[in-house]
Amino acid sequence: MAFTFDPASLRDLWLQRRASFDHRDRSGVWRFREFLPVAQDAEVVTLDEGNTPLYEAPRSADYCRLPQLSLKHQGCNPTGSFKDTGMTAAVTQARKLGARLVVCASTGNTAASLAAYAARANLLCAIIVPGGQVSDAKLAQALDYGAKVLEIEGNFDTCMNLIRELAEDPSVYLVNSINPFRIEGQKTVAFELAEQLEWRLPDHLVLPGGNLGNSSAFGKGFRELLSSGLIDREPKITVVQAAGAAPFAHFYSDRERDSFVNEEHPQTLASAIKIGAPVSWQKAWRAVTETGGTVTTVTEQEIADAKAVIGRDGIGCEPASATTVAGIQKLVSGGVIKENERVVAVLTGHLLKDSEYVMKYHNQSLIAPDGEPLMGTFANVPIPVAASREALGGLLDDE
Ligand code: F0G
Repeated sequence: MAFTFDPASLRDLWLQRRASFDHRDRSGVWRFREFLPVAQDAEVVTLDEGNTPLYEAPRSADYCRLPQLSLKHQGCNPTGSFKDTGMTAAVTQARKLGARLVVCASTGNTAASLAAYAARANLLCAIIVPGGQVSDAKLAQALDYGAKVLEIEGNFDTCMNLIRELAEDPSVYLVNSINPFRIEGQKTVAFELAEQLEWRLPDHLVLPGGNLGNSSAFGKGFRELLSSGLIDREPKITVVQAAGAAPFAHFYSDRERDSFVNEEHPQTLASAIKIGAPVSWQKAWRAVTETGGTVTTVTEQEIADAKAVIGRDGIGCEPASATTVAGIQKLVSGGVIKENERVVAVLTGHLLKDSEYVMKYHNQSLIAPDGEPLMGTFANVPIPVAASREALGGLLDDE
């Protein structure tokens, strides 16, 4: 890609756009359109996505024993997950190509996001999900936005295989993260983060890994920032997977192995990342190895506790997102991340995406996929109380 701007003018231009009322400027994706493979005057399909907060999180930082921890909350996007930053680009492209039907396989968030953007673009939309394995909140979004929701028997990987067959029809446009426009849109989060940190990136960027599109997108984003002189070094990209759905982590820890082995029966309560055959593992591998990052796993208990700790910072995320804080805690105690390093964790989805999980954790009825009950280490149990001031008073004094 040829750039006619110097880094300083680009930074100024992108910042100025935040004060504009043009939707392309208001979007945290299209604001960076000089780096997107779309005509500068293209009519974009946008919901003003991106521009999400970067939070300090003192309780999570204490939990990880890491003073300089911040959380980039991608759950604050229009449909509650990071998928919107990629979907605006993919659906814009689908409309430009004149697609008859846009489709995806999903564990729920891609589905909710596609359904919303397809509705904005007035495009026919179908999503394929693993029956009984998607949270009600995510399904509710897809239904409300008018998508055709097809629930199949099998897991996400079965859905993915099926959808790839469907997309052999040229009038059908596939928007899973193998779609390069998804990655293009999602890579702008790296730009936005660099801007929020005044172009001085942290030592580590930590994110959950499922189908591995997001890790690939961050890798591409930082690489482009570096090669165009907007930053002078990249953060180490670290991917965290749930222990029961960790083919990428196994590949990382057994690098001598010459082939990538899928996980036949992925298992985790973090349903967003219950994926055994990640389609973008090669690109994510490049992101991790080129930046000197790592790949690790966390248990169901570690995910659940980390999620509750993030909650105590007043920041709600879904279970998959909490793998990050759980992973950081583990990597700091193992000495892989040093106490004086700066770390940003990416929270990928909003707490309300899976409130059933939250209620079960606090009611101490969360059961891991292997049948083991999980502890409510930081449980906050609702208290039944008589409707009298005296009864209430006694309870309110306690910590
Ligand atoms: N976190 C959340 C909340 C997700 O929804 C996903 C993926 C990931 C992390 C993993 O990101 O796949 O780019 O490595 N959800 C997809 C979906 C699979 O269908 O919504 P990834």
